[in-house]
Amino acid sequence: MVDWKNPPRLFIPGPVKVNEDVLQQLARPTLGHRGKEYAQLHGDTISMLKKILFTDQNIFLSTSSASGIWEAAIRNCVGFDEVVLCTCCGAFSDKWAGVAKSCGRNVEELKVDWGKATTADMIDEKLATGKYAAVTLVYNETSTGLTNPVYQISEMMKDKYPDVLVFVDSVSGLVGLPMHFDDLGWDVTFASVQKAFAIPPGLAVAVVSNRALGKSKNVPGRGYYFDFQQFAKQAEKSQTPTTPAVPHIMALNYQCEKLIAEGMENVWKRHKEMGELVRAWAKEKFALFCEEKYASNTLTTVKNTRGINVAETIKAIQDKHNTIFGNGYGKLKEETFRIAHMGDITLDDLKELLAWIDEEI
Ligand SMILES: Cc1ncc(COP(=O)(O)O)c(C=O)c1O
Repeated sequence: MVDWKNPPRLFIPGPVKVNEDVLQQLARPTLGHRGKEYAQLHGDTISMLKKILFTDQNIFLSTSSASGIWEAAIRNCVGFDEVVLCTCCGAFSDKWAGVAKSCGRNVEELKVDWGKATTADMIDEKLATGKYAAVTLVYNETSTGLTNPVYQISEMMKDKYPDVLVFVDSVSGLVGLPMHFDDLGWDVTFASVQKAFAIPPGLAVAVVSNRALGKSKNVPGRGYYFDFQQFAKQAEKSQTPTTPAVPHIMALNYQCEKLIAEGMENVWKRHKEMGELVRAWAKEKFALFCEEKYASNTLTTVKNTRGINVAETIKAIQDKHNTIFGNGYGKLKEETFRIAHMGDITLDDLKELLAWIDEEI
């Protein structure tokens, strides 16, 4: 029987550990979403998010997981007569290409082997054909534990292809990795809050450029729930088109206050330190799955070079310490395992987990 009063400590790459004080925010009395109290909460949260994500453009709060914004970016900003280049370097970037196809769009994939990064040169070569209206990228590929060189890619795109729209899945990147939305020249980026925002699942944050919003006006068949035009109209009143997950927005507001107080440079530094700790351990005891140069500071995908039984190791640690980390994702199950180091996870938490894994291997 599951002991609901004592659930496992989470080191899976989402949902991640949520601190008690954050959980308390979800238990606050609710607000009517068309009232002035909600508008205040919404408006304050958006103002803080603009600072955290370095943008003066549009931020929408979507009561959905991040996958909804995969679909939103495509359905709002890619015409049926256009071609979108979907870069694929792991399970999640692959899935986004699948979502774009399922929206009836013309998709071409730029694939690299899992564990390899998608580079500016690879994208440049494709875009030089002049064929593409938009590109999808994954900032941090949660299956392979890899951070793509999105700053270099963005510089190249701003310089050579300023008219091509850029959609970036930052689901396991925000707010653990640097992200200066306006300077990067991106059009859509997003994350669900169960990753480095360290909130239970149920809400996604989307940043949308003015040009993406403008373009969406003329793209037919946007649907209703994820229509950027609907979000923008309601955002003027500090509201959402449909009833939002108010408790999650309370928790998001609380987490944003903490992030601003800490300062984003310090937040990124904290994530880097956690990444370095886990990588050092992984290299000593096993190996990294991806090229080290691109290894992520929010999670590590460890290559199972010792051939341990990952599922059994996870179970043993759960039984003894009520703590779980992640098996490999999809086809990388057992071949790899994953440890999250994002959000409110600490260096001490990680040291404890790594010592427990050491006892099992
Ligand atoms: C990189 C990436 N993109 C998208 C998703 C899907 O997010 P959600 O489950 O919040 O829809 C995930 C989930 O882990 C992810 O890691």
